[in-house]
Amino acid sequence: MSDLSLTILPETPGDAQPIERLHERTFGPGRYVLSAYRLREHVDHILDLSFTARIGTLLVGSVRQLPVCIGETPALLLGPLTVEPPFRGRGIARALLERALAEDKAKDVRLVILVGDEPYYSRVGFKKIPRGTATMPGPVDPARLLVRELADGAFDGVSGAIRPDWSAVTVSG
Ligand SMILES: CC(C)(COP(=O)(O)OP(=O)(O)OC[C@H]1O[C@@H](n2cnc3c(N)ncnc32)[C@H](O)[C@@H]1OP(=O)(O)O)[C@@H](O)C(=O)NCCC(=O)NCCS
Repeated sequence: MSDLSLTILPETPGDAQPIERLHERTFGPGRYVLSAYRLREHVDHILDLSFTARIGTLLVGSVRQLPVCIGETPALLLGPLTVEPPFRGRGIARALLERALAEDKAKDVRLVILVGDEPYYSRVGFKKIPRGTATMPGPVDPARLLVRELADGAFDGVSGAIRPDWSAVTVSG
């Protein structure tokens, strides 16, 4: 960032409306049919592991994470990641991602998955999930299904359907 001071903070309940408006502007009404949204319908994101970016008091970006299982292995699903258009290209998304992944690791999260562009997310260590290893509910381009291991070998032997982690529902409040 240049001279503007950027703050990354855990999401609070009061952030819900501005974030919803940001998603509406970014993804439009069609967002609800996206495969990742199907998981979000069933389990809330974890506020402590979701983050907002602010310049002054203005909310300019957001990243959320929600608990899922891949087969029987717990993981987090990261997304949506969004930055207000006028504030893009200044490293805000990267700051949100780095904060989220650092907090995940501090809380002993071992795996983070997402649906997104590998050329972008590879900058923070995400890799393609081998085709057929893990399946999202609904159609997803396999080349966009990515994983970040936060512990060595955390994805070794992991496979199966990606579904909400019901056991973690109470964590999200
Ligand atoms: C993707 C997004 C979050 C990036 O936010 P940002 O704050 O501009 O990102 P950063 O400043 O950290 O990084 C910008 C860099 O990423 C690159 N980049 C952005 N989107 C990219 C993509 N889809 N693929 C490859 N590179 C991408 C930019 O070209 C820029 O490159 P540079 O650093 O070499 O100039 C933002 O563009 C956005 O909200 N897009 C719409 C929503 C979206 O697609 N979200 C991701 C899927 S959930």
